[in-house]
Amino acid sequence: MKNKIVAGNWKMNKNFSEAEELLVSIAESLDDMRLETEIVVCTPSVYLEMAADISEESNFYVGAQNVSYAPKGAYTGEISAEMLKSAGADFCIVGHSERRNYFHETDEELAKKVDLLLENDIVPIFCCGEKLEERQSGNYFQVIDNQIKNALFHLDKEHFDGIILAYEPVWAIGTGLTATPEQAQEVHAHIRRIIEEKYGTEVAYNTYILYGGSCNARNALDLFSCQDVDGGLIGGASLVAEDFIAIVNAAETASKND
Ligand code: PGA
Repeated sequence: MKNKIVAGNWKMNKNFSEAEELLVSIAESLDDMRLETEIVVCTPSVYLEMAADISEESNFYVGAQNVSYAPKGAYTGEISAEMLKSAGADFCIVGHSERRNYFHETDEELAKKVDLLLENDIVPIFCCGEKLEERQSGNYFQVIDNQIKNALFHLDKEHFDGIILAYEPVWAIGTGLTATPEQAQEVHAHIRRIIEEKYGTEVAYNTYILYGGSCNARNALDLFSCQDVDGGLIGGASLVAEDFIAIVNAAETASKND
């Protein structure tokens, strides 16, 4: 049995007191549960320290949503991997499609971000996924292959082993249009295959590949029951404690049924 990972991506939501309330209610709900699933809450960076404090009494990890591609220096407004680590982040999302699209992040920058995170002992949650027109043209495997190869395949085996991948079809993010379990499984199996070709069977098996894109309490169990879906990266549904916990429960059930 391989345990699942459920990671929440709050994006740019919640003010300070709302963030505190949500973190406390997640922590309180988790206190009553004996879980095999690993839980990560990726908050806006200004809340990392608070999240890390609350997580000390609970069983979730804290993650950031972005990191600078530079290690330090004159980059006004940026936050380095070292800063994230010192504020309590153990995970960090990299290459989310919103960052690729709105902030024009390139594969080259993403490769630098991944390296800096690994150097600072932070687990990158690397996002990949195709846009609607790329799915419709049947070109999606190529798009995903390029995203993964360009940003990750410079890593040696030992470092690649420390990465989590998230398949997030852009057409499914925040749209309510979830990939079907068959669509998710097809891409996850493909991703595992290209990892296997490069790094071998053991690394491919061990690598966590999460699904993200309108994953919610209703569809999570079906998605997480797919052979190559190792959990989820959850946006909208991670902003309500009960919904997030219901998804964590779906992950528990799916790994027990494995
Ligand atoms: P969503 O977002 O669950 O709101 O679709 C997922 C994500 O962007 O990580």
